[in-house]
Amino acid sequence: MYHTKNAVGYMNIKMNLTSSDNLKQKPADILKTPFGTVFSDHMFSMEYLGGQWKGASIHPYRDLSLNPAALCLHYGQGIFEGMKAYHRGGRTLLFRPERNFIRLNESATRMVMPEIDTDFALSALKKLLKVESDWVPDVHGSSLYIRPTMIGTEARLGVKPSDEYLFYIILSPVGPYFREGFSPVKIFLSTEHVRAVKGGVGAAKTMGNYAAGLLAGVKAADVGHSQVLWMDALEHKYLEEVGTMNIFVKFDDELATPPLSGSILSGITRDSVLTLTKDMGFNVVERKISIDEVIEGIASGKVTEMFGCGTAAIIAPVGSLWFKNKSYTISDGNTGELTQHLFDELTGIQSGEREDPYGWVVEVD
Ligand code: PLP
Ligand code: COI
Repeated sequence: MYHTKNAVGYMNIKMNLTSSDNLKQKPADILKTPFGTVFSDHMFSMEYLGGQWKGASIHPYRDLSLNPAALCLHYGQGIFEGMKAYHRGGRTLLFRPERNFIRLNESATRMVMPEIDTDFALSALKKLLKVESDWVPDVHGSSLYIRPTMIGTEARLGVKPSDEYLFYIILSPVGPYFREGFSPVKIFLSTEHVRAVKGGVGAAKTMGNYAAGLLAGVKAADVGHSQVLWMDALEHKYLEEVGTMNIFVKFDDELATPPLSGSILSGITRDSVLTLTKDMGFNVVERKISIDEVIEGIASGKVTEMFGCGTAAIIAPVGSLWFKNKSYTISDGNTGELTQHLFDELTGIQSGEREDPYGWVVEVD
């Protein structure tokens, strides 16, 4: 019996499974499949109607049926999460999944959407993963990416919070997020556009933040760069985060990352890196980092490593930075020692191959 602690009380999850003849083909080589292009056979969904979540069900993956006036399509009332499941040694493992559902609720509050019961959501996800266990790849470097999503579905053209919502979870087997794999990525520092400002919605994982970044992303791609590094919106001076990652810079023996100022996402990988590096005895600080300090540090050799981190990308070494029409190479374009160590440690813990002293890993049993 699965239940919510909210007003709904107990809620069963209805099961409507595809017959085995209709199951999809799995990708032949997951490590070569572009990120997020293949979806599993089933999904979870439930609806919020009349002030309550109801109709929880696991059913075949299918198109949504939405009224063309659904509020999410016009005014962007939509939020999501990103998490991963690993299948190693016969076990299916999740990494800090409760944090994602807590953050989904924080995003919901900011976007005036209803919360979900985090225990119920986790139990629904585990149930879905048991149905889809064949979809959790076991190849080194692969995982099953999980995308919980909530959208406002009420049909209404007046601007208001929706009274109706759909929450669903879809699954996609993935290899590396970047085409480069775990190789240094080139990032483009945007001086023209900004992503978010304190008081806005930058700290929420809401759809419009990603749409707001697309134009700068296209400009980055034009000069051969795969991600945009955003500056603060007021002074255009301090590092904020990368398109899909938080950012860390190593200055000699100090590891620094921008503080949670209200305009960046509070990354779960960021938090894990802070914990790991503090425990390694590193001098790790959350502080403002100006772009001038970074450029000077690259020139003087003080900046020895730079990396982004996030669920999809894991740990991505930054090999070069494009700033004001000039490219600056970091770590000679190679992966730094600390970056490599953190990648190995984090992926080792996530996949159950290394000891997890933090209790981060949750087994789907
Ligand atoms: N910042 C942004 C904008 C993101 O999309 C992500 C990815 O989720 C992150 C940071 C990293 O967050 P997390 O480590 O929780 O995946
Ligand atoms: C994640 O890392 O899970 C993200 O949400 C990034 C993404 C937008 C692909």
